[in-house]
Amino acid sequence: MKKALITGITGQDGSYLARLLVDKGYEVYGTYRRASTPNFWRLQYLDVLGEVKLIPADLADMSSLLEAVSAAEPDEIYNLAAQSYVSASFDQPLLTTEIDGTGAVRLLEIIRHLNAKIKFYQASTSELYGKVVESPQNEESRFWPNSPYASAKLLSFHNTRVYREAYGLFASNGILFNHESPLRGLEFVTRKITNAVARIKVGLQEKLYLGNLEAKRDWGYAKEYVEVMWALLQQEEADDFVCATGVTRSVREFTQLAFEIAGLNYEDHVATHQLFMRPQDVELLQGDCTKLKQAIGWSPQTTFEELVRLMVEEDIRRWQDHQSGKTFPWDAFNYADDMTLVQRHV
Ligand code: NAP
Ligand code: GDD
Repeated sequence: MKKALITGITGQDGSYLARLLVDKGYEVYGTYRRASTPNFWRLQYLDVLGEVKLIPADLADMSSLLEAVSAAEPDEIYNLAAQSYVSASFDQPLLTTEIDGTGAVRLLEIIRHLNAKIKFYQASTSELYGKVVESPQNEESRFWPNSPYASAKLLSFHNTRVYREAYGLFASNGILFNHESPLRGLEFVTRKITNAVARIKVGLQEKLYLGNLEAKRDWGYAKEYVEVMWALLQQEEADDFVCATGVTRSVREFTQLAFEIAGLNYEDHVATHQLFMRPQDVELLQGDCTKLKQAIGWSPQTTFEELVRLMVEEDIRRWQDHQSGKTFPWDAFNYADDMTLVQRHV
């Protein structure tokens, strides 16, 4: 039986990947951050919490990572843990660099010294393209990070390549474009919108405050993207691959469609607020995953319209179930709404 260690198993991708690997017959280990309140709702939602082994570790802490890799003795490591919110990286640039940049180097060093046969997947990102000079973007396009998050991810991207070339490690980068799902964190724009649409629909909220409505993203379905992570570690040789849908839509288009699906008009509810603007933004992402298609035959199945619909319908269902007294693994009922954030922000 193969063994996999997933860092960031409590996150959106970590949970979907845990489900996928358990279904493939892997023994799955996952690192989680010690917190005063555990964050296992996604693993519970996918009914996989009872089938994984959890190890407390922090990407900023070498000892805990060494402990995790020694305990799991994995064949494959998927490094998904990150301070993954671009906006927060402007507020916490050093922490973000420590986790998203140096954190990957810690794992690569552990692999090099402990067992150089361990295969390594690095969660790289379309944010690397930043100020894009061509569209769509592929593996050859220029990286020009626009945020401390992207700069940190550039460090881990290149070190993954460097350890592959210098030490012969099987270390691959998945340059994944945005991928979303009902398990997406509430800070990210798609889930923020679908959760707000659901709250408006059931009468709990009136307004939704957003930032840059004109930014364009290539949005895919997270459940399909974790299959790519696994497939990349099953290749003959390690390499770097873009994973995307090839379709780009603006935040405004996402918002309009999400409200429409709920039978609402976004112009009646949406306003912009400075709080949700970034010092600088990535204006356009659109990926070209030809190389990936040729290597593993993957192509996205869920369209933009289907993705927005499945997220909106799931969030409406959750709020309705919540109002009728049902309990289930979920995050939103604990989360302050936008109005509270806007009013309380200093
Ligand atoms: P996510 O939902 O925010 O999950 C991030 C995970 O990292 C969580 O489990 C989080 O733990 C953990 N984490 C945060 N700081 C940590 C630390 N210091 N030490 C150990 N664990 C830590 O992110 P995601 O959407 O699943 O993304 C997975 C990875 O892919 C990330 O590296 C992200 O940067 C990258 N990526 C994501 C996308 C996308 O569109 N989703 C696209 C490209 C690349 P808690 O649960 O305790 O917070
Ligand atoms: N979060 C957020 N909140 N974003 C907003 C808002 C808002 O209220 N209003 C407009 N936006 C815009 C952002 O400025 C950005 O242009 C776009 O919506 C998407 O923002 P996010 O959903 O926060 O995602 P991201 O594209 O910055 O980063 C995500 O995708 C990357 C891959 O390209 C994250 O998952 C990163 O971890 C990932 O690397």
